[in-house]
Amino acid sequence: MALHFLLSDQTLFTNPELFELDYMPDQLLFRESQLAELAFRIRYGVEGMHPAHAICRGPPGSGKTTTVKHLFREIGGGTDGIVPIYLNFQTGLKNYAICSKIFTRIIGHDPPGSGIPLRRLMDAIAEALLDRNVVLLVCLDDLQCLIQHDAENEVIYPLIRMSLDYPGCRAGVIMTTGEMRPDLSRIGDLSFSSTLCGEEIPFSPYTAEEIQEILRLRVRGAFSPA
Ligand SMILES: Nc1ncnc2c1ncn2[C@@H]1O[C@H](COP(=O)(O)OP(=O)(O)O)[C@@H](O)[C@H]1O
Ligand SMILES: [Mg+2]
Repeated sequence: MALHFLLSDQTLFTNPELFELDYMPDQLLFRESQLAELAFRIRYGVEGMHPAHAICRGPPGSGKTTTVKHLFREIGGGTDGIVPIYLNFQTGLKNYAICSKIFTRIIGHDPPGSGIPLRRLMDAIAEALLDRNVVLLVCLDDLQCLIQHDAENEVIYPLIRMSLDYPGCRAGVIMTTGEMRPDLSRIGDLSFSSTLCGEEIPFSPYTAEEIQEILRLRVRGAFSPA
């Protein structure tokens, strides 16, 4: 009986997953300039230089996560010598988990245990990047959640400084934040955080017409034709 009700409207949707919160649309609308700006900064890494960092700042629902994931999907695993790693802090990732995820992805196996100082994990990651001549591209999504966990100096700062601390090492960091004024001065020294402020890519809220168009495409893809 219950199954009957559960499946009773299955003819209504052809693709119900299009309404999932983390659904990645095939087509990214109205974010061409932000996507191009991000790609431009990463391009330095492809050309053998240091990729630039970026802070994507805008209110919730302005397409920050979708834009970064879209870019990472295009880059794929290892294309052009870039290894993109997406980390979302809404899930409450802690410092060691963040570093081990990067370690595992770059080195190919988990780091041993949990008692290793983060500094040593970073050393190993940097060494592997140099050995393999690949560029690390990390997205720290919803940075404000991470800052609340006091992770800035243990994780964010070392990642941002990687190319300075390990000569020849290439690493770019894309941060997203929904807060209009996160306290970036807490990341490392003040002069460095003011440099980061220049790296901002603004994500303004979608207009009513833009939202309507995004939803129109979503509805068209999700529902069965009448
Ligand atoms: N340009 C876009 N085209 C299609 N769908 C989008 C676009 N921007 C956002 N969305 C959809 O809106 C929702 C919220 O976007 P998201 O990227 O999570 O915003 P933010 O990270 O800024 O909070 C997601 O479900 C996403 O699929
Ligand atoms: Mg987001």
